Amino acid sequence: MNNSTLSIIFVSPDCDRIKIIFMKRLLIALIGVILLTPAKADEGMWIPMLIGQNFQQMQKLGWQGTAEDIYSVNKSSLKDAIVHFGGGCTAEMISADGLLMTNHHCGYGNISSLSTVENNYLMNGFVANTKDAELACPGLSVKFLVRMEDVTKRVRKKIGDAYGKDVSTRLREVTKELQKENNKNDAYKVDVRSYYAGNKYYMLIYEVYTDVRLVAAPPESLGKFGGDTDNWMWPRHTCDFSMFRVYSDNNNRPAKYSKNNRPYHPKHHLPVSLKGVEDGDFSMIMGYPGRTNRYLTSHGIESSINDYNPTIVKIRDKRLAVMREVMDRKPAVDLKYASTYASVANYWKYFIGQTEQLKRLKIEDQKINEEEEFKRWSKKEARYLKNLFPDYSAAYAGYKPYVKHYLYFYEGFGSPKLTQLALRTSGLKKLIESKADAGKITKALESLKKTRASLIESMDLELDQNLFAAMNQMFYEDVPRAQHPSIFSSEVFKRFSTGGTEKTFKDYANYIYTKTALLDDEAFDKLATPEKFNELLEDPVVTYAMNVNDNWRKNYIENIRDYRYERFELDRAYQGGLLEKNQGKLMYPDANSTMRLSYGTVKSYQPKDGVSFSHYTTADGLMEKYKPGDKEFDLQAKIVDLVRRRDFGDYANEKGELVTCFISNNDITGGNSGSPVINGKGEWIGAAFDGNWEAMSGDIAFDKRFKRTIVVDARYIMWVLDKVLGGRPLLDEMTIRN
Ligand code: ARG
Repeated sequence: MNNSTLSIIFVSPDCDRIKIIFMKRLLIALIGVILLTPAKADEGMWIPMLIGQNFQQMQKLGWQGTAEDIYSVNKSSLKDAIVHFGGGCTAEMISADGLLMTNHHCGYGNISSLSTVENNYLMNGFVANTKDAELACPGLSVKFLVRMEDVTKRVRKKIGDAYGKDVSTRLREVTKELQKENNKNDAYKVDVRSYYAGNKYYMLIYEVYTDVRLVAAPPESLGKFGGDTDNWMWPRHTCDFSMFRVYSDNNNRPAKYSKNNRPYHPKHHLPVSLKGVEDGDFSMIMGYPGRTNRYLTSHGIESSINDYNPTIVKIRDKRLAVMREVMDRKPAVDLKYASTYASVANYWKYFIGQTEQLKRLKIEDQKINEEEEFKRWSKKEARYLKNLFPDYSAAYAGYKPYVKHYLYFYEGFGSPKLTQLALRTSGLKKLIESKADAGKITKALESLKKTRASLIESMDLELDQNLFAAMNQMFYEDVPRAQHPSIFSSEVFKRFSTGGTEKTFKDYANYIYTKTALLDDEAFDKLATPEKFNELLEDPVVTYAMNVNDNWRKNYIENIRDYRYERFELDRAYQGGLLEKNQGKLMYPDANSTMRLSYGTVKSYQPKDGVSFSHYTTADGLMEKYKPGDKEFDLQAKIVDLVRRRDFGDYANEKGELVTCFISNNDITGGNSGSPVINGKGEWIGAAFDGNWEAMSGDIAFDKRFKRTIVVDARYIMWVLDKVLGGRPLLDEMTIRN
């Protein structure tokens, strides 16, 4: 409703009947506005296409543009500057020539694989001031959203009353149809995603660019300053950024890597503001949040706290210790495993924090209250939901006995690269057994050889063997005996029975790694033929892997699938009910790796009674944390010197401080990493890179007192780019606003 409607009502005083009609309309419209106003500004990952619904509130908080400025298919808009980066992060265009900003931890895998011990960009940082100096990143791609469309009716019609596996089969079929219709000339990637647990479906059309090159990265000492100690914590001083450039063909269209490609010209790029922000200023984040579980039931919380989370943490504790021990002794291995280590550590700490906060904030009780309220409503409104919670309870009861096995199978058993390689023989086995044609078999053999080469290249033998021993020992000790694969008794303990469990598995690992042909080029090549393939299947690591794999797949995987299928139906009913119950109010769908928008403000907080956290940090704190020689808190002499001399150039605030990071109450999660933080004028003020400890349960329940987004300030990034890396030409390319 707008002001002009109001004036029509009040200048029509002479006709009572019309007046009453207008007053009625006004009332309805007002109720509409009240109902349409979300209860909370900060909570919510909104769909950009539908942002008109939230618009009034965004304006009230400080957004100065229009809804069309955010999402439009008719003109360039903010959405055109935001990409899904490498499938798991977000990045944004910050120049007219395809310059891309994201987090350091998002570019980490690329930076580390471009590094060698002699030429270590991870350690020393990197900058390319000319296009020639940029480094190609094979395998890296970015995805631009062209448009999205509600296809719920069509998808629901296709799915009908299908259950379980058939739901995904039919979704795949309808997705294929939509791909055909919307992907003329193969120019786009067409995806269909479920929202509100299958209550709505949207089609997303993307353009995918695959020529993406590294342009700049700070030294790891800054890009990962504070390491795992500071990870998921505020106050923070990490300069978590890296920069890439997107290349296209001469028509600005996606093209495979080629020297002749030219920088991509985005429809929109974000101007960079160096003015900084104050507590309470408007802030908006657009990006690709991966997954949240905001509608998880109390049963789910119980399962997370007691089974799922502690199991993952326990397995990862061990994986990390095993990796660390070898990495600390061998610099080349340290580099080779840096990226895997960082990602395992990231979610290891995540699950520790989530469990702690689920308990501290009493989220299970909160969910029980929400469920009671839902039950009261559904009693009146929709009787078909009356078994919902007993059914949830039953589904979780069916899942519980197998959670450990499930996690040990994928996280533990599946983590050594040799095991992964051994498992890769199963596809070929099926082809040979089904007497597939020779061409197919040759092709599968070639692909097995390729997989083998890349697994072996990325592997450290000693580390992999240690992991194999440790993971199998844990599996043996923690997974219920009744569910064990037969190989433990028929082989492992038969061969190596003395000296205790640890020694048994060490000896077994040693036997496997010395005996297997999979690690021996000559022996492998001899066996990797259709004729000799049966012998390869007799290899000790293949028989081992198949035994554990078959045990899981034949006897247990169905239990997990049943639970998943049941959960899908229950979640659909629950969220469908909630949509009905909340009709007229705004309700956001869980994150699902599609583009979302969150708006709120810069905001300080109180982590606990009597303690206040400021909304920003400065380079002074960098020096307070600085610890020479430490793995996580060391800094190069050049950086220490710049800070000590307070050589902050144009990047200091009016108090002469170099602001490093700030926090806002925006609603983000994993996948948002690298997302632009945007002020009321549509300018880029920093890159989101983390969440905070006191709200680690945030993916399940948003607590507005504690939930904050941690942002690396634009000025810190520009200072590092300029003063530390000497990347002035890159700054000149951006649209800087002072
Ligand atoms: N917690 C950050 C996120 O998930 C990642 C930080 C990476 N740093 C690390 N020390 N592992 O976005």
